[in-house]
Amino acid sequence: MSLQLDEHGRLRHFLTTEGLPRPLLTQILDTAESFTGVIGKSIKKVPLLRGRTVMNLFFEASTRTRTTFELAAKRLSADVLNINISTSATVKGESLLDMLRNLEAMQCDMFVVRHADSGAAHFIARNAAPGVSVINAGDGRHAHPTQAMLDMFTIRRHKREFEPLRVAIVGDILHSRVARSQIHALNGLGAGEVRVIAPRTLLPHDIESLGVKVFHDIRAGLADVDVVIMLRLQKERMSGALLPSESEFFRLYGLTEEKLSVAKPDAIVMHPGPINRGVEIESAVADGPRSVILEQVTNGIAVRMAVMSMALGTGGENA
Ligand code: CP
Repeated sequence: MSLQLDEHGRLRHFLTTEGLPRPLLTQILDTAESFTGVIGKSIKKVPLLRGRTVMNLFFEASTRTRTTFELAAKRLSADVLNINISTSATVKGESLLDMLRNLEAMQCDMFVVRHADSGAAHFIARNAAPGVSVINAGDGRHAHPTQAMLDMFTIRRHKREFEPLRVAIVGDILHSRVARSQIHALNGLGAGEVRVIAPRTLLPHDIESLGVKVFHDIRAGLADVDVVIMLRLQKERMSGALLPSESEFFRLYGLTEEKLSVAKPDAIVMHPGPINRGVEIESAVADGPRSVILEQVTNGIAVRMAVMSMALGTGGENA
């Protein structure tokens, strides 16, 4: 039994997409699909998590993830609390574990955790009380599993099957928890070919062990791809100068209409956000007809509803 699955192979925590069996990945996507009907209704609520309490613990900045987790919990009728870490008693020296014990004493059912340290969500899951689920909303450069699953959901909606697809992930792979989670999810769902495109300084040395093809030239890497996923430069996680300059990065790796022209004519362009215009992507592409960037944000609500309901054992069967 892994930390994130129970003895029946059902989701208990959602910490990583690595090693998750294909049927479970597909179940998340199918459950999310069932929730899109709820989101489209005038009364956007189902009672699946009525009486349950979800606590958002964001130790690091977020716009999309925190907000869509809150919306997802509310759509499921849960009580949701956003704990303001900067005004919590951790600033008075309370340890993370003591903080968790106190929040659990309020009968909380789920922690949604974002933290700058890789492994933070696993640590909390290992120490959580029985019956409390932990969802990783991004830990360091390690994993961002719900982002990866909303990206898979968006890809499936546009392309239907994963097997024939060639997917390129472009940019700062080294510091990206999103890229790692996407690669594991794409491999788990049977994507035909996963490419990474980056300068050597922005690639982990062992990246090929994840089953990806490495390109340093963006035009070669984008040739005939079905999906282009752009990543921002994670400057907050860079310890030294890994690039000559942002303008040089844009010249070599920034996505422009001209570079995109070598991808398939119906290729979609994705980005987890936040986007840095003129650094990894030009506005004409980010706002252009092939961009599905804002669809990704919308899909985050249904996917997070799916993960939360599955982890708390309600699975979305009443959606
Ligand atoms: N994609 C993503 O994680 O965005 P936020 O940092 O705004 O949550």
